[in-house]
Amino acid sequence: PRAALVARIDALVRLVPDYPQAGVLFRDITPLLADASAFAEVIEAIAADVPGPVDLVAGMEARGFLLAAPVAVALGAGLLPVRKAGKLPGPTEAETYELEYGTATVEIHPSTVPAGSRVLVIDDVLATGGTAAATVTLLERCGAEIVGLSFLVEIAALEGRARLAGRAVDALVQVP
Ligand code: PRP
Repeated sequence: PRAALVARIDALVRLVPDYPQAGVLFRDITPLLADASAFAEVIEAIAADVPGPVDLVAGMEARGFLLAAPVAVALGAGLLPVRKAGKLPGPTEAETYELEYGTATVEIHPSTVPAGSRVLVIDDVLATGGTAAATVTLLERCGAEIVGLSFLVEIAALEGRARLAGRAVDALVQVP
């Protein structure tokens, strides 16, 4: 049952205060990834929650890759790595977004996104939603149709969901 999975995720995501900088409570998913049955259950649960047919699963660098790749295989879909700036040989399409200090950029190879591709977006954590919102903007500019977004953990207080208004947003675990 889902409640048992939520409890397992809670137990296997390690909270690290003041990492990578003071005031940030980092959620370390490495214990979850290392637990074979918990990892498999998480992938199955994400795949089971998908609201419609999917051609491509997009995962955000780096931790999003770890969930998106097995979900893509489970769904019989392709994998679309959404990379940080400067990692893809191109031609690339990019979207830059604001961080608390500075900006960040996400990039893809649009040649791997045929027009009308139905894309599921996956990341480990939904925090402010900046990364996810930029990814959606980028993918839609490239002609994709966003089927939904799935996260392992949603940090409710940071209100990322508000930046994804009107989208099908799923999170296995919600924390305050
Ligand atoms: C983290 C996380 C998400 C993003 C969430 O990635 O994996 O991608 O931040 O934050 P947001 O909702 O405020 O945009 P990070 O930048 O730490 O990259 P990493 O996975 O490469 O460590």
